[in-house]
Amino acid sequence: MTIEQWTIERILNWTQGHFEKVRPDSPRLDAELLLAYVLDCPRLDLYLRADQPLNEKERGAYRELVQQRAAGCPIAYLTGEKDFWSLTLEVSKATLIPRPDTETLVETSVEKILKWQQTHPEATCNIAELGTGTAAIPLALCAELQNLNIISVDCSAETLTVAARNLERYQNLLAPRNNSLKLVESDLFSAIEPAANLDFIISNPPYIPTETISTLQVDVCQYEPSIALDGGPDGLFFYKYLLKTGPSLLNKSGEMILEIGFDQQVELTELQDDFPEWTSSTFLPDLQGNIRVCCLQLEC
Ligand SMILES: C[S@@+](CC[C@H](N)C(=O)[O-])C[C@H]1O[C@@H](n2cnc3c(N)ncnc32)[C@H](O)[C@@H]1O
Repeated sequence: MTIEQWTIERILNWTQGHFEKVRPDSPRLDAELLLAYVLDCPRLDLYLRADQPLNEKERGAYRELVQQRAAGCPIAYLTGEKDFWSLTLEVSKATLIPRPDTETLVETSVEKILKWQQTHPEATCNIAELGTGTAAIPLALCAELQNLNIISVDCSAETLTVAARNLERYQNLLAPRNNSLKLVESDLFSAIEPAANLDFIISNPPYIPTETISTLQVDVCQYEPSIALDGGPDGLFFYKYLLKTGPSLLNKSGEMILEIGFDQQVELTELQDDFPEWTSSTFLPDLQGNIRVCCLQLEC
């Protein structure tokens, strides 16, 4: 009698079947990401080495991760990495996991900054970001653009430690492209000079209403830091702050580009009535067609 070995192919098929029952969102992908992490190889290699048996140590490490994923822990927290835009970013349980939705905010920001640069040739574009997390947004901007001077703030020192390591990893996007990216620990924009004369404020702030957080899927509500999600009782705390404070930090034709929840367009439009300095607003959808970005402008 031959004992069937736990080859890469067999263990992937078993794990896929297990995840289909307990975490059905992306069972095959999750199984592959975890195994590639344990074997420290690209995912494609799992197919090239499909018949290779796993040793006991590899099986033990994989089993541990599969159990944690089955309990709901997001893959990115298990592997410590997440792809965003053209980057692979370090994440930790102190940081929000960057979302594909946020790429709409990056895309919109790149377009607006490029337009600004056409009318300000050679000038440095001054940008402040509220709530940088892993520094996903400013690093993605630096990957696409040059001559940026960005200050990114976050109130979490732990988050900023991870962000700093991501900056280290992507030094090639900074000085060689004439970009400067400074990380600052700050509650809201308290560390930003008044009259900073910014050209843009960019933010993906926490925007989930407090009471809604516990209704989100387990991966989010039990694992992601609530400080990165909680937008106050109505989810609008940070938008109210930014609409109020933005005009004093921006120059007179400055712009603000914000990620918003898919159902917050009406609330944001109403909020704008309380802050007449903002003369225009536009809303843009993400790839699923959900409104995801709000652009506000002072004088046109
Ligand atoms: C929704 S997450 C966005 C993270 C990252 N920009 C992204 O898009 O992946 C919001 C971030 O705001 C930070 N934050 C929450 N409250 C803050 C405050 N009062 N001042 C500064 N940052 C804050 C959180 O620590 C978190 O990193």
